[in-house]
Amino acid sequence: MRKHILLGISGGIAAYKSGELVRLLKKQGHEVSVVMTRSAAEFVAPATFQALSGNPVLLDTHDNALGNGMAHINQTRAADVMLIAPATANTIAKIAGGVADNLLTTQAAARTCPLAVAPAMNVAMWNNPANQRNIRQLCADGVAVFGPAAGEQACGEIGQGRMLEAVELADLLPDLWTPKSLQNKKVLITAGGTFESIDPVRGITNLSSGQMGIALARACRAAGAEVSLVYGQIQSAIPIGLHRSEQAISAQQMYDAVHRLLSGQDVFISVAAVADYRVKNAQEHKIKKTASGSPPVIELTENPDILASVAALPNAPFCVGFAAESQNVLAFAREKRIRKNVPLLVANNTALAMGQSTNQVILLSDDAETELPLMSKTDTAAAIVQELARLLARTKGV
Ligand code: C5P
Repeated sequence: MRKHILLGISGGIAAYKSGELVRLLKKQGHEVSVVMTRSAAEFVAPATFQALSGNPVLLDTHDNALGNGMAHINQTRAADVMLIAPATANTIAKIAGGVADNLLTTQAAARTCPLAVAPAMNVAMWNNPANQRNIRQLCADGVAVFGPAAGEQACGEIGQGRMLEAVELADLLPDLWTPKSLQNKKVLITAGGTFESIDPVRGITNLSSGQMGIALARACRAAGAEVSLVYGQIQSAIPIGLHRSEQAISAQQMYDAVHRLLSGQDVFISVAAVADYRVKNAQEHKIKKTASGSPPVIELTENPDILASVAALPNAPFCVGFAAESQNVLAFAREKRIRKNVPLLVANNTALAMGQSTNQVILLSDDAETELPLMSKTDTAAAIVQELARLLARTKGV
């Protein structure tokens, strides 16, 4: 979804990361306008942001680049969201106090769109009681605070105050315009493929990349849920802003992790491609080639079905299952939804789904079968969340 993002840059060394942020947002198809404080322009030249955004960069209230001298109104009305990154302690304090003494802070005051700040400052400045008071004030005023992260700082000190990375800010930004259809819900998600050891260096796994589960974790977070993620083998980064995430390699480890984290969850979404069988006679040492050339015999035994075990609990959370099939997708999916006793099942074709960044799914519940078009896993995840929210609201009778 194409959005107009107003990016405010205040004067911190983290301003160098904002160039990468503009590039990422443009790559995602968004329109970006940049407004800088005078001190931000001491760190990175406005021409950098002009070139990356493709739009004129505005610097101060007397800047007339938008024609009628009403940049504080015009630009904020055109924007869907305003993000200030980096947000210095000074700019945060001004916004918390309603001060509007340069174009950036005037726009923050004049905007009608949502605002997020990405603080960037020294650890002592971050912990300073006045700054903490200002951050609490921003939160109370409905401003989103992204980060900061802890780590090594430009000044050489270590602690909280580092601005989040550009990729993390770009990940969090869509949360500002996503409807909060899962507000106050706790969602547990499994993602990725499991790995069953044959010996210390070999194992049985599958082609799952984890992208669908990761996209769902993001979509649930964006919809306001508290997300816990249990992941096996995945090829994408864990999203920022999850309540917790932990790795579980084998099906049994994933089963144990899911049941340990299950208490209090409202929803369980089982996206992981879990091995149906594990090796019964897994070897402690690497299996050697025999002189006779006869191959080793690998015996299999059945793994527990995580989804079915959760769905069978007396106080089961609302369960969402996936069915990845290479043939008879709809027929197998219908049967699986009933057999595993899940209210929502997402059916997909292995050839179109596994390892791809796109997917084409059918959503099956007791009152609807909805075929979605081939689209990105991000858009597919958003559609699944929408259907999940509809079914949850129906369950509650609201
Ligand atoms: O039976 P099948 O493996 O096709 O079912 C797929 C669904 O069941 C997925 O939601 C998957 O995460 C889940 N599953 C599971 N535990 C297993 C096998 C599959 O939770 N051992």
